[in-house]
Amino acid sequence: MGRFVIIAFIHLIAHFLSITAKEQVVSPTNVCSPQNPECYYERFGNFKIPQVEPIKVGHVRKLNLIDGVEHEMVTAAIHPPIFEIPNFLSEKECDHIIELARKEGMEDSRTLLQGIKQDTRALGKNTKVYFDLWDVNKDGEIDMDEMIHNLENQLDFTPDKPTLLEMYSAIQLDKDHDEKISFQEFKQRNIPEMAKFIGKVKEQQPHTKSRHSRQAWIESVSGRSDRVIASIEERVQRLTMLPRELIRASEYLQVVSYGPMGHYNCHLDSDFIKPKRPCCHFMSSELGHCRVCRYATVLYFLDNVEDGGETAFPIADNSTFDREEWMRDPENVCNLAKNCHKANVVVKPEKGKAVLWYNHRVDNTTGWMGEIYTFSFHGGCDVTRGTKWIANHWISLSEDREKDIQNWIELGQFEEEQQKATTTSGGDSNEETSHQEL
Ligand code: OGA
Ligand code: CA
Ligand code: FE2
Repeated sequence: MGRFVIIAFIHLIAHFLSITAKEQVVSPTNVCSPQNPECYYERFGNFKIPQVEPIKVGHVRKLNLIDGVEHEMVTAAIHPPIFEIPNFLSEKECDHIIELARKEGMEDSRTLLQGIKQDTRALGKNTKVYFDLWDVNKDGEIDMDEMIHNLENQLDFTPDKPTLLEMYSAIQLDKDHDEKISFQEFKQRNIPEMAKFIGKVKEQQPHTKSRHSRQAWIESVSGRSDRVIASIEERVQRLTMLPRELIRASEYLQVVSYGPMGHYNCHLDSDFIKPKRPCCHFMSSELGHCRVCRYATVLYFLDNVEDGGETAFPIADNSTFDREEWMRDPENVCNLAKNCHKANVVVKPEKGKAVLWYNHRVDNTTGWMGEIYTFSFHGGCDVTRGTKWIANHWISLSEDREKDIQNWIELGQFEEEQQKATTTSGGDSNEETSHQEL
């Protein structure tokens, strides 16, 4: 077959897919009653979880997410599939979410004391096993690059070399002053002192932290009763073509603000499959023994940023990625404070824009959530001027179809009971927002 025919065929399929994407965007019908669990199993027992086809970088789809409004969805990457949707939220919706977060109360993403406690644990023990882990190239000494690499990975701490040397002398770690840590020196580490020093530097030099931001979960103020949030959830459902139940069972919105120097080094939003640690479910009490599972992320930019604050995916669509090499790289690409603009995909903040990406594949055999896309590493670049506001809408799913369906049924029953309780008590639980026009 001629190349032209193949290319024409691919274009035809692509065209067809964009049309179906447009046509499938219709109101969710056919919702099961929680009184009838069988209905859920009939609908989802053999259901294949959808994932929007990226087609090719730069591909544009036109979507009807709201009556009378046309949105564009632009493909930014294939591995993982990443899409940008400008004006997904209106300005008023953005302002409303910021307002909700303010009412909830913005908190530091981690407090100093919590941090020092965690850092003490993350520093490990003064044993040969830990020394060998930190001595990446196994030459019997921890040089400064290795030390920075470990502090970055284990403690979310990226000091520069002068700061590191300051620490060495403050806690008398490098006794012979050769700028390398031998096992003899490592064995005598004063771990609490080290954690305290690190905590102090993180506080004074926020760019050495992997994350510098404030956050709130939109939970107690509005829960899921807020009209604006409900309408956004419906729009996300049309965008992703995922079941309404799945969207409803996802986490509350997390709002994050970054001031000057604010950033978030790159990370995965979800986790690798761990057979001994199943996914957490909204309705279950197994928290602590479960891991966070997020099939997809929808990130909203709630405001414009004067300068910086891009969301970057350093290794998206990377064809020559070598994990080993990456782990040894002293100029870690995940350090977005340094390497933001080297990232393969860099999304500019723009009020109302949504970014959708998938953290997991769909498993071909099960038709349900599959392995994580390792190339979905991402983070927020330094805000160099102004303030950045985002919201994370994490779409939760697990690799266990049965458990997910069960969870959706329980959530449906819970919501129904809550609704009954509010109607019998005669009040709209959220008068203020339910009358808002957006
Ligand atoms: C996050 C995140 C990116 C950004 O909060 O998980 O990846 O641009 N944020 O703030
Ligand atoms: Ca030494
Ligand atoms: Fe993230």
